[in-house]
Amino acid sequence: MEKELIIIIDFGGKYVQLIARQIRQFNVYCEILPYSTDFERIKAMAPKGFIFTGNVVDMNNPDVIEWTNRIHDLGLPIMSIDNLKASDNLKDFLYNTCHCSGSWRMSSYVELSIRRLKEKIGDQKVLCALSGGVDSSVAAVMISKAVGKQLTCIFVDHGLLRKNEADEVEEIFSNQFDLNLIRVNAQDRFYNKLAGVTDPESKRKIIGEEFIRVFEDEAKKIGRVDYLVQGTIYPDIIESGVGSGLVKSHHNVGGLPDYVDFKEIIEPLRDLFKDEVRQAGLVLGIPEKLVYRQPFPGPGLGVRIIGDITPDKVKILQEADYIYREEIAKAGLDKQISQYFAVLTNLKSVGVKNNERTYDYTVALRAVKTSDFMTAEYVEIPWEVLGKISTRIVNEVDHVNRICYDITGKPPATIEWE
Ligand code: XMP
Repeated sequence: MEKELIIIIDFGGKYVQLIARQIRQFNVYCEILPYSTDFERIKAMAPKGFIFTGNVVDMNNPDVIEWTNRIHDLGLPIMSIDNLKASDNLKDFLYNTCHCSGSWRMSSYVELSIRRLKEKIGDQKVLCALSGGVDSSVAAVMISKAVGKQLTCIFVDHGLLRKNEADEVEEIFSNQFDLNLIRVNAQDRFYNKLAGVTDPESKRKIIGEEFIRVFEDEAKKIGRVDYLVQGTIYPDIIESGVGSGLVKSHHNVGGLPDYVDFKEIIEPLRDLFKDEVRQAGLVLGIPEKLVYRQPFPGPGLGVRIIGDITPDKVKILQEADYIYREEIAKAGLDKQISQYFAVLTNLKSVGVKNNERTYDYTVALRAVKTSDFMTAEYVEIPWEVLGKISTRIVNEVDHVNRICYDITGKPPATIEWE
């Protein structure tokens, strides 16, 4: 049992995880429980205080009144939070009213998660779809620390990864971590399914579904597994429409394989925000290079190529994006920017090269700063750096003759273009 526990009582609503995150930011451990949780269980957890939040449950219902009265009778501090601007009061409540010392660290969260995963999984088999992104990597390593080689990871190269990425992922996970890694080269399957498709949501759905089919084909070879791991993090859940309107159908939420024989999904990161996932990754001993790798969407370059996707366009974008990333790193800006990437627009325009007319693509560059990826600001990259990137891309990448820089925040734009 953790010392200095704060229990958040969830009366329904969408802010409960944001409050949990704020509490963790004050280095205090918290757990979220639904309002009807068994009273004796709550008492046995010996919390230092309670936060009541949410507005879905009818507080005038006699059962709810009786239940909350029993909590009040414990004589412990209780704070009710209805909106998100509670930070100052919250800090005061945690430190001065509940007398928490603020000694909790992410390492405790990771330790507890590993312990719980170990208990849950026992000697059973686990399967994980590894994308090489931060989320699935942290989820996989956390599970491998709990159950070692009982975990098998399948890495699908859908042909929409960044330049050299597939080889890098294979290298890191085969050599540095003790897990079974299977790499599937499925580029052609994806390109065939995507041929001629231009609608962003259709592309996302096709990539997500094909991913599942490829994954299933490989999983069938392994046979029955008990658990399937997903690297879902909290913002994925919010943005996929739980608690708010659908923005985009996220690749790693909701779509589950039909034919993989497993009994349960495990989502070890589903309560964490992106910055917390990175902290957990460092605690787990994942190299900084990978932990601070910028996020990369499940559908990959598929949502960064506007219009239909062809292998040639993928190649153009990979090259342009590689130059962009290389120059940002050279300028020492990579650590200051949360996410930066090139987009291949479907806009062609007239240019001139070696005294000849060209009619080629426009590449857009995007760079944003954000802590939670739910809102974001564009980054003011110095002109000279942008100029150098632009010159290199138009000189070194065929079929690109114009570069634009995206200066829109989120909202109203989203981070990805599709
Ligand atoms: P948006 O474009 O929604 O992106 O502002 C927010 C963050 O989510 C990433 N993203 C995804 N991540 N599967 C993912 O795992 C997806 O389908 C997906 N779509 C967007 C995006 O790169 C940004 O970091």
